Amino acid sequence: MSSVDRLVILDTTLRDGEQSPGVALNVEDKLTIAHQLARAGVDVIEAGFPNSSPGDFAAVRAVAEQVEGPVIAGLCRCSAEDVRACADALRPAASARIHVFIGTSPIHRDGQLHLSPAEVRERAVSMTALARTLRDDVEFSPMDASRTEPEFLADVVAGCIDAGATTVNLPDTVGYATPDEWRRLIAWMYEQVPRLRDVVLSVHCHNDLGLATANSLVSVVAGARQVETCVNGIGERAGNAALEEIAVATRMHPQVYGVDTSLDHTQLYRTSRLVSQLTGMLVQPNKAVVGANAFAHQSGIHQDGMLKDRRTFEIIEPHEVGAGSSLVLGKLSGRHALRERLNQLGYRLDEEDLRRAFVRFKQLADRKRDVTDRDLEAIVADERQSGTELYRLEHLQVSCGTNLRPTATVRMALPGGSSREAVAVGDGPVDATYRAIDSLVPVSAELEEFAIQAITEGMDAVGEVSVRVRKNGTLRAGHGADTDIIVAAAKAYVHALNKISAGTPPPD
Ligand code: KIV
Ligand code: ZN
Repeated sequence: MSSVDRLVILDTTLRDGEQSPGVALNVEDKLTIAHQLARAGVDVIEAGFPNSSPGDFAAVRAVAEQVEGPVIAGLCRCSAEDVRACADALRPAASARIHVFIGTSPIHRDGQLHLSPAEVRERAVSMTALARTLRDDVEFSPMDASRTEPEFLADVVAGCIDAGATTVNLPDTVGYATPDEWRRLIAWMYEQVPRLRDVVLSVHCHNDLGLATANSLVSVVAGARQVETCVNGIGERAGNAALEEIAVATRMHPQVYGVDTSLDHTQLYRTSRLVSQLTGMLVQPNKAVVGANAFAHQSGIHQDGMLKDRRTFEIIEPHEVGAGSSLVLGKLSGRHALRERLNQLGYRLDEEDLRRAFVRFKQLADRKRDVTDRDLEAIVADERQSGTELYRLEHLQVSCGTNLRPTATVRMALPGGSSREAVAVGDGPVDATYRAIDSLVPVSAELEEFAIQAITEGMDAVGEVSVRVRKNGTLRAGHGADTDIIVAAAKAYVHALNKISAGTPPPD
């Protein structure tokens, strides 16, 4: 049997993913995602770009302090100040990586950096060496590698390996490469820089031509042993290679790729949902592995085949990636059963959180016969956010219908312990509700996006609302879940307004 190498997964959802237009995660969101990435078995979490803003520094520091298991990485430009700030943010981490990058292509050298090739090389080498004095684990990235002259690329990479880089990452920064060309470049780099065999070769592929996953996979065939990913394929512009796609494709074809990862595939779906909720970036229904339609069969011939033998039209079973709604609890289930199931799902709630989750669970079980894992996740997500909110929805009543002006009565708990009530009319029930909330929460922000999804199937499904609101150019995502869709909409709006009120500036 041929040997199987380990493929390192560096997930950069918290750094490149956060650079997706309109996404801004606060420290708490980043910690929540980082804990889930650790649970999913990611090897390296790129937690942010510490010197880009105080908020990003704080987030990297918090992840370095609190998330155990994976290596925690921070990104920095080739400047001593950036490298030192990165090392400082990472200080509490048991295992940390400094990731140094500089643009090497002529377009970046001339158009952005105004540096000669020799100056770029000198900065790359000296800052890699500086990083290596601060941490043993150093990654170097020649940004825009795919549009860099190959000879210059090889020269810079060789210099950085001599200076102490332990991982060399080749970024296809603008998603320009095609699989054949990219694979040839990697093979050529191995010939030109024999010392590449002494370090881990990594790739970081963007999806501008829809080729990020394909380019990452051919890199593995060519010898790369680290792939950089984002959950749901989010990231700058068209995004990065999707974590879940790389995970499933490499596991499904060991004879092609000859690698295995340390990922727990049963966490992939949950990780996808969490990132979607906290970033406000919905997953397209036909998204591979985690999209709502990924396991849905529409045509009669397909349904017939599935009933006879699933393998006719399905290469991945939903449970393999933690999808599918396993029936777990019902009206008669007790607190102990709830705690057990939440533990199995990876949630560790303290007594107070468990008490609140149990109250919500009982309310839900009264309205909904079958309470599934998805419902429990929604409850926990909701409780997690309501525990820290300045403004909290206490009561909502809406009247609407034919020949009625939609009217909402809202009572909110306000900072300082008081409560206030307001009544508003609107064009529809959600509009009336949002107007009433606006009159109680002194944050004037514009609603930019509003989306409703059903988490589970059936008439009694829990509905999920995602919103994005903007204030002074800052976008914040909000999320709410409830069997009553207007209540879910109100919670999502209040969640986003709370984030704006908390005033954490988004990292650049
Ligand atoms: O796309 C890119 O080149 C990057 C680097 C900073 C690795 O994100
Ligand atoms: Zn990138």
